[in-house]
Amino acid sequence: MPNPVRWFQWILACAGMEQDEFIRIFLKSRYGVYRMSGQARQLDADLSFTGHDFEAVRTTLHATAGITLDADKRDLVYARLARRLRALRMTAFSDYMVLVNSPRGAEERVHFINALTTNLTAFFREPHHFDFLAGRLLPEVLRRHAADRPVRIWSAGCSTGEEPYSIAMVAQEVLASAAGLAPEILATDLDSSVIASARQGRYARERIAGLSAQRSRKWFRPLPGSGGGTVEVKHELRKTVTFRQLNLMHDWPVQGPFELIFCRNVVIYFDRPTRQRLLERFADCLCDGGYLFLGRSEVMYDPAGRFEPVGPAVYRKPG
Ligand SMILES: C[S@@+](CC[C@H](N)C(=O)[O-])C[C@H]1O[C@@H](n2cnc3c(N)ncnc32)[C@H](O)[C@@H]1O
Repeated sequence: MPNPVRWFQWILACAGMEQDEFIRIFLKSRYGVYRMSGQARQLDADLSFTGHDFEAVRTTLHATAGITLDADKRDLVYARLARRLRALRMTAFSDYMVLVNSPRGAEERVHFINALTTNLTAFFREPHHFDFLAGRLLPEVLRRHAADRPVRIWSAGCSTGEEPYSIAMVAQEVLASAAGLAPEILATDLDSSVIASARQGRYARERIAGLSAQRSRKWFRPLPGSGGGTVEVKHELRKTVTFRQLNLMHDWPVQGPFELIFCRNVVIYFDRPTRQRLLERFADCLCDGGYLFLGRSEVMYDPAGRFEPVGPAVYRKPG
């Protein structure tokens, strides 16, 4: 029998939401106000959050992470940061923003960014990319790549690891037949908490429900003591992925050039000049003939013509 509570928690996890955030948004959309005793109403009563505070949050998030928050995200910001204020025993967002922007707020800035980033992801999200990877790109890499060098791939904005592990599965499956060619996958994210979880490589079993039985068996094992509810990525796959915390707005201490870069569903939060700059930098890190994957709904701004489109949200650096 499926456990409804687990399913509800899984749906919230997929939507990148916490339970109190869901309750808040649900009640607001249903009733316009919070007609609820307890936690949700208390949130409104005891924390001061003005329009000016919301603007301060937007400005700081843009300056530190390049992320542009829409003006209609005020409720979301409140819900996500309220628990930080409570943890610090603060009652006003204005005080909180002073802390975040002060030299002594370095540690809190990490929590601030972690709370506001959206980490929605899934194994084999946008499956056509993985078909393209297995059917066309990796065989092409095999043909042109020297056998004594690793095939370098970067998953930039990797969230909790489902994307780089999916890439790793396909890369291992295709490259396994070619002696000496090993994938080396760098997986980075701004959010330190998702990197910690990705490194562990543990997932609720439902997260891999869409994988074939063969893939699940080959790359995952039940986590001992979890009663089968949690699976763990096998060491053989885990060792091909290196996780690092990295803000795409800062320097990139990465070792390229890369054959492939995945930066999917990340630049959607960035404004146009930021996206443009980012694409230029990705082009510089790719080898000639390398490929860049974006999310399907993301628009490529490439006035310098550094890339040519080759598939849905797949771009090639000429060479
Ligand atoms: C929606 S998830 C996408 C995950 C995965 N790429 C996918 O498509 O399934 C976006 C990720 O981008 C990360 N991110 C946002 N701004 C970033 C930045 N400035 N530098 C690095 N990562 C960032 C977030 O922390 C989040 O984990």
